[in-house]
Amino acid sequence: MICGLLLSALSVVSVSWAQPAPPYELVRDYSGQTFFNGWDFFGFRDNLTWGNVTYVDAPTAASDKLAYVNDAGKVILKVDNTTTVASGDSRNSVRITTHASYGLGSMWIFDVSHLPYGCSVWPAYWSKGPVWPDDGEIDIIEAVNLMQNNEGALHTLEGCTHSATSNPALELGQVSETDCSTPAGCVVTESKPNSYGPTFNAAGGGVWATSFDATGVYIWFWSRPDVPKSITSLTSTSPLGSVSDWGVPSMAWPAINCNIPKYFTDQQIVLDITLCGGWAGIDAVYSSTCGTAGPTGLCYNDSIVGAGSKFDQAYFEINYLRTYTNNASTFSSISAAAAASTTGGNAAASTAIATSSSTHTASKSGAEGPWKVSQGTLLSVGMALITLVAGGQIIL
Ligand SMILES: *[C@@H]1O[C@H](CO)[C@@H](O)[C@H](O)[C@H]1NC(C)=O
Ligand SMILES: *[C@@H]1O[C@H](CO)[C@@H](O)[C@H](O)[C@H]1NC(C)=O
Ligand SMILES: *[C@@H]1O[C@H](CO)[C@@H](O)[C@H](O)[C@H]1NC(C)=O
Ligand SMILES: *[C@@H]1O[C@H](CO)[C@@H](O)[C@H](O)[C@H]1NC(C)=O
Ligand SMILES: *[C@@H]1O[C@H](CO)[C@@H](O)[C@H](O)[C@H]1NC(C)=O
Repeated sequence: MICGLLLSALSVVSVSWAQPAPPYELVRDYSGQTFFNGWDFFGFRDNLTWGNVTYVDAPTAASDKLAYVNDAGKVILKVDNTTTVASGDSRNSVRITTHASYGLGSMWIFDVSHLPYGCSVWPAYWSKGPVWPDDGEIDIIEAVNLMQNNEGALHTLEGCTHSATSNPALELGQVSETDCSTPAGCVVTESKPNSYGPTFNAAGGGVWATSFDATGVYIWFWSRPDVPKSITSLTSTSPLGSVSDWGVPSMAWPAINCNIPKYFTDQQIVLDITLCGGWAGIDAVYSSTCGTAGPTGLCYNDSIVGAGSKFDQAYFEINYLRTYTNNASTFSSISAAAAASTTGGNAAASTAIATSSSTHTASKSGAEGPWKVSQGTLLSVGMALITLVAGGQIIL
């Protein structure tokens, strides 16, 4: 009896801790023919992670077909796999960054059907503030060479951590690093199968959802067959109304160990593929999965130099990236900016904005309850549990 009550209390508390608070309004859909409108191309060599790549500019990416929309309407971002690279040269690749910055209360949903992999290949889907690491970095997809599991991480100044052990009610992944200010960041390794490499692609890809919130940073991953209905039923214009079928996130950095508003400013989203460099190219890392890929056992010499066909799998194939917010002030500033840009102009556009902002007001009042629950639960989870059990009031 007491055990039963305790269990009920635990499950109620742990669920609300990690749950984001819908409804979320759509901020932007990046997909298909308009995908590239919202991004800048880096346009020079990788001077950030010291990979042996040149990140090309937008015209080169288009003419060399390193960034394009394929016949199926999917977005391709890839490493050059047609050039034979001479010793001493680098290979071309892409790195793109959103024009927009996204604040607290954001949800990003990324649906991808193929991830880049291969010896020397180091893809990333991540976010950053203007100054590194002062403004924070969230790594959502990051893996190298022939690794099998995706890794997520935060990078911050000193003072933000991940707890040393994973609470399985909060996150499914395994803690690999706890201090977010170390070079590796506070890393959590995915524990679900098929999160990277050939098996991810063979399953038809999958979906990541990232909640960047004052209550914490949470990352969910689903392989294609497991993507929840609340996501598969979304369109390029719909709000995100429910997360009730999402389950426990793969990775969680609750604010109890990291004051998110202190360590993170608004984030731009980045997609890139580098080669070798400060992770994939470290001799011990490279040789652990790719040591027999060539005669020297060295990343640059065996993988970058020579034929492009080694990079036939080094591409992202993206269905969409959708950004959402449940932050009323962010949403009203987006609506105001959109309204200002259509002043004196397009009546249809103004009507659309008015409609979406009134939808927002209507649905937001419905979210007031869950939002308060998740805030309150976060700050007083231990106390709430004690109170619930000691007071014997289990309110479901
Ligand atoms: C990388 O190179 C670009 C172009 O030269 C430069 O603007 C940028 O500041 C460099 N970044 C770093 C971290 O050195
Ligand atoms: C690897 O490539 C570099 C740069 O081209 C070259 O200087 C070096 O001698 C090569 N190392 C081996 C072991 O082949
Ligand atoms: C490959 O990248 C490493 C790290 O930036 C650099 O030291 C090396 O010179 C590069 N190799 C070539 C041949 O550009
Ligand atoms: C909403 O966004 C504003 C502006 O970025 C921020 O100051 C505020 O803390 C956010 N509110 C919540 C509940 O995250
Ligand atoms: C390069 O990679 C693409 C997939 O991104 C593939 O379709 C193509 O056959 C590969 N090889 C060449 C020579 O283009």
